[in-house]
Amino acid sequence: MSAQPGKKLWSIGGGKGGVGKSVFTLGLGICLAHLDKKVILVDADLGGANLHTLMGVRYPPFTLEDFFLKRVNSLEEVIIDTDVEGIGLICGADDILGAANPTYAQKVRILTQLENLPADLVLLDLGAGTSYNVLDFFNYSPGRICVLTSHPTSLQNAYGFIKSALYRQISREFSRDHEVLRLVLKSEDQPTDGKPDSVEDLLFHLQGGDVDRLTRFLKLLKSFELYLVVNEVKTDRDIQAWKIIEKVCASFLSLEPKLLGYLSHDPAVDKAVNQMVPFPLNQEKSPAAQDLYKMAQALVEICTQEPPHLLSKAETSCPERTDGSWSRLWSMVQREMKSI
Ligand SMILES: Nc1ncnc2c1ncn2[C@@H]1O[C@H](COP(=O)(O)OP(=O)(O)O)[C@@H](O)[C@H]1O
Ligand SMILES: [Mg+2]
Repeated sequence: MSAQPGKKLWSIGGGKGGVGKSVFTLGLGICLAHLDKKVILVDADLGGANLHTLMGVRYPPFTLEDFFLKRVNSLEEVIIDTDVEGIGLICGADDILGAANPTYAQKVRILTQLENLPADLVLLDLGAGTSYNVLDFFNYSPGRICVLTSHPTSLQNAYGFIKSALYRQISREFSRDHEVLRLVLKSEDQPTDGKPDSVEDLLFHLQGGDVDRLTRFLKLLKSFELYLVVNEVKTDRDIQAWKIIEKVCASFLSLEPKLLGYLSHDPAVDKAVNQMVPFPLNQEKSPAAQDLYKMAQALVEICTQEPPHLLSKAETSCPERTDGSWSRLWSMVQREMKSI
């Protein structure tokens, strides 16, 4: 059974370095391969590429650089075989994209090729930060996963990453609508009177008359599906970190991220990384391996679900305005942290 075409490409981001994006991408890929999926892992951390190291490949024979510099004709030519059956790997390159500053259309051409690679699932391991290249790769993917830990800095970065991705998506979708662009730009300003401080507020500013625009906007929000993974979980309390993100996303971005699952803190991961053995290969009984298997199964289920239904009429009416404020964000996070 292959994945539904609309859910073949998955991006793994999270804004922050060191939260376990690469460990998770690799582990998820291995578990998916054990579930009989053909998987291609792509190291899209341009500038900090290390997925090949986690995979145990010391000297990649090909990298994305060969593709970007046109030494090969297609992305398929830079896929390398790995020791794990069912997994192909595309190794990362230095930040050629950053240096080349590609247009959005050029990025879409690369992403279309990624989506058409010969596999059931293609997983993109993204770099840290919120550069347009990272956000465009994330947004283009029908499957989006944000990896976080329960540390406040990770929560802050994960929220910032999701917000930047959504606002980038709004700016792209409404690139010819000056009023929307003006409001999006204004909402990214420092606090000022009259600045829209939530997506709901932005919707309120936009509701004057243009039903088509409002419908497009709501459709964008509805299609911005997002899954969260909490890593480095040591206690039940750590898992609850995702609820903080859920809450702030609902309050300020009108998004409803879902929990894909969590990954226990597990010394077996560290050991595998140090030995350059892909985790969880031969470690199937370890706690983190079991967590990864659960998430791989959940992802397969998501891939076989029907695509979201189109908006009903009732969903196209604008919500009532509530009094949102960016400054409320951190008091909300702090309150939540205390209550879990
Ligand atoms: N669940 C975990 N248990 C133990 N160590 C982990 C776990 N997840 C990540 N690590 C450690 O954190 C390091 C950074 O993870 P990595 O996936 O490279 O982060 P990122 O890709 O987000 O920068 C890994 O090398 C590993 O040692
Ligand atoms: Mg990484």
